[in-house]
Amino acid sequence: MSFKNATMVWKNGTLLPWTEATFHVSVHGLHYGTGVFEGIRAYETERGPAVFRLQEHIQRLFASARIHSIEIPYSQETLEEAVLETLRANGLQSAYLRPIVFFGSESLGLLPLNCPTEVAILAWEWDLLLGAESAEKGIRATISSWQKFDSNAMPATAKACGQYLNSVLATREARARGFHEALLLNSSGNLAEGAGENVFLVKNGTLVTNGQADDVLLGITRDSVLQLARDRSLPIVTRSISKLDLFTADEAFVTGTAAEIVPLCEIDGQTIGTGQRPVTRELQQAYQAAVRGQDPHHPEWLAYAEKPGFRVQGLGSRG
Ligand SMILES: Cc1ncc(COP(=O)(O)O)c(C=O)c1O
Repeated sequence: MSFKNATMVWKNGTLLPWTEATFHVSVHGLHYGTGVFEGIRAYETERGPAVFRLQEHIQRLFASARIHSIEIPYSQETLEEAVLETLRANGLQSAYLRPIVFFGSESLGLLPLNCPTEVAILAWEWDLLLGAESAEKGIRATISSWQKFDSNAMPATAKACGQYLNSVLATREARARGFHEALLLNSSGNLAEGAGENVFLVKNGTLVTNGQADDVLLGITRDSVLQLARDRSLPIVTRSISKLDLFTADEAFVTGTAAEIVPLCEIDGQTIGTGQRPVTRELQQAYQAAVRGQDPHHPEWLAYAEKPGFRVQGLGSRG
């Protein structure tokens, strides 16, 4: 199984063994993608495992659900605690955590009539999305022949299940053509984002990224990088990014929870910059320090799995 060291799943308030956490094939979310989700990482720290920016991820989950009129039958605080509980129950020191909320089984018209809202949280050990060496070596990307869906069709700022068909098409095409990742342009011909990451450029010492108007998911890693750049007084501009901007950048990188911060070394065979990446490297180091609790400026970014006095004593129990 590729879900490394996953043993327990939080399902509607109960921790269940992985193999028992099942849903019926008639669930609305399976047929129409009517669900929202989050991708979160927990990191090993000196004080035990800690979840990075848990509150912001759960806030975005609720915002995504609101956009799609899915009522989550728990409070944000309950789901934050549930994520920590899932991490503890799996006994993982570092993990990828996947809360998902979707319409369950009751009817299969487009209107999710009387479908219950199902909530589940998975946890497993997941290596870096774009490969173990991606942070150091960088990746080769291609501009996808698939266009990023327009926010007038579906709001790109929500992290909704069905919309990921767009990213899956782009990823499969990119991999089939021998690239690590796809970059998608929006309907204006500007860059939107990677299939699963936001994009940043460095041009003449200024950090450039795009925003909501360019049909991107407002990434939490993006937000963290912007904050870390502000901490270091790096100049930042938020504006649309053209293909020309991409090809003439001094440095470029993608950001996402699963991928972290990954240099873009080549786009469609064209080398970006000189291969020197001082700004990218500085932000990568800053990010690694922050996620491991080594940045004294951002203690609020970490939610520790083990509260003081708490010891894991088996599956989900509290001592
Ligand atoms: C399409 C897309 N854009 C951007 C991101 C980056 O978001 P975050 O940094 O919150 O993981 C992701 C990752 O979830 C994504 O799927």
